[in-house]
Amino acid sequence: MRRAIYPGSFDPVTYGHLDIIERSCKLFDEIIIAVLVNPEKRPLFSIEERQSMLLEVLAEIDAGRCRLRVESFEGLLVRFAVERRANAIIRGIRAISDYEYELQMALMNRRLEPKIETVFLMAAEAYSYVSSRLVKEIYQLGAAVQGLVPPSVEARMQRKFRKE
Ligand code: PNS
Repeated sequence: MRRAIYPGSFDPVTYGHLDIIERSCKLFDEIIIAVLVNPEKRPLFSIEERQSMLLEVLAEIDAGRCRLRVESFEGLLVRFAVERRANAIIRGIRAISDYEYELQMALMNRRLEPKIETVFLMAAEAYSYVSSRLVKEIYQLGAAVQGLVPPSVEARMQRKFRKE
């Protein structure tokens, strides 16, 4: 049983994230999409909202035989990975600029927990510039986010920025 953790803020989930999840499904039997509870950040969506958005959109992707679970976690990622008996951590890489930070995290995580491998996957070129941060920024400034996030996420963003 090959189990991986795909951690992130997912504030909100984008097509880039979903692309990485679909690709990971070819490699793992089970993937736990783990939403970080970070008291230092002020997210747009609450943990519950991010989890429920993920559940909604995951129902629509092609996961093959891979089982997808959504959870939240607090504290050290590797501790959570060990608790869940995961073999690997999945991270998506979009451009070279992602690499330095990701390498640093992967090596630190390896030092903390040598048994857990970090697996890097390349997002499709079409999503290589998509990030949750930019999606929120352009939407707030009046641009369309169609094609960058699923329609259900766009609808939630609309409600959020219109103050529900
Ligand atoms: O979506 P993000 O913000 O790029 O995800 C970053 C995440 C959640 C992978 C990273 O911040 C993380 O692992 N946080 C948990 C705390 C931790 O383990 N820190 C040490 C990393 S070496």
